[in-house]
Amino acid sequence: MTDKARHIPVMLQEVEALLGLKAGAVAVDGTLGLGGHAAMMAGRIGTEGRLIGIDQDAAAIKIARAGLSGFKGRLDIVKSNFSRLDEVLAGLDAGAVDAILFDLGVSSLQLDEPSRGFSFRHDGPLDMRMDADAPVSAEEIVNDFSEEELADLIFDYGEERFSRRIARHIVAARAGERITRTGQLADIVLRALPGGARHAHKRLHPATRTFQALRIAVNRELDVLNEVLGQGLKNLKVGGRMAVISFHSLEDRIVKTRFKAWAVEGAVRLLTKKPLQPADAEAADNPRARSARLRVCERIS
Ligand SMILES: C[S@@+](CC[C@H](N)C(=O)[O-])C[C@H]1O[C@@H](n2cnc3c(N)ncnc32)[C@H](O)[C@@H]1O
Repeated sequence: MTDKARHIPVMLQEVEALLGLKAGAVAVDGTLGLGGHAAMMAGRIGTEGRLIGIDQDAAAIKIARAGLSGFKGRLDIVKSNFSRLDEVLAGLDAGAVDAILFDLGVSSLQLDEPSRGFSFRHDGPLDMRMDADAPVSAEEIVNDFSEEELADLIFDYGEERFSRRIARHIVAARAGERITRTGQLADIVLRALPGGARHAHKRLHPATRTFQALRIAVNRELDVLNEVLGQGLKNLKVGGRMAVISFHSLEDRIVKTRFKAWAVEGAVRLLTKKPLQPADAEAADNPRARSARLRVCERIS
């Protein structure tokens, strides 16, 4: 694993404790990434266990597969969107499973690699597709959406209060030349913001919200989360557990609402009444962990 490909698994101990995996269990990592959580799961389920890893990023899968090569249990790794969970598990003849984990969002591999186009910190092509085979990249959205569509997207998915100004600046800039680079877009966003807002957030780069919004749109992140949760519950054994780590309020709201509804129906027991957040030491060591929220439920009927 190269330096670039290092990804520190978020809230690893909490996930381990709450999933409560036993030797011989069947565990699904729906967001395999670089295999950090999966390695923990593999260690818990041991040689009699079965680990199923899903990711839509072929580059991540390659690294995770190498990292898990020492696992002596049964290992199946599938390149797919997790929104096709039913199909993937049926295709593997997996039966009902003991645990499912979703550690949402992007990995360090994706974020830190300029050519993937996720980051305003490194100039690169305006891409942002987690699945390099997906049809629509951020470049198409930024250049083809109407001003109103862009403003709504940046407001809804980025919770950015200057969304209209930013959309107006994007449309004005692209009339001159096509916007193809992350650096170009970050500059446009910066110029769109009123003076104070450009410097207001010490920890948050002014383009953060706009980039988040585009990333969510490109990867249909909220749609696929909505699509997969029910499939997850359906594929759990009674006593099986589902853990979801989300990184922004839009995702956490979806998980919270769904888990609560299931609890009211008597389908699950909530193992986290409030979402768990990383301990101070983890948040200090790993900036990516700071916004993490972990929710876990157990199927009871
Ligand atoms: C935060 S990383 C996971 C890191 C992993 N837990 C680890 O410890 O290395 C999220 C991963 O999930 C993948 N991913 C995100 N949304 C996905 C989806 N809808 N379907 C499949 N994979 C997805 C991304 O490609 C990325 O590799």
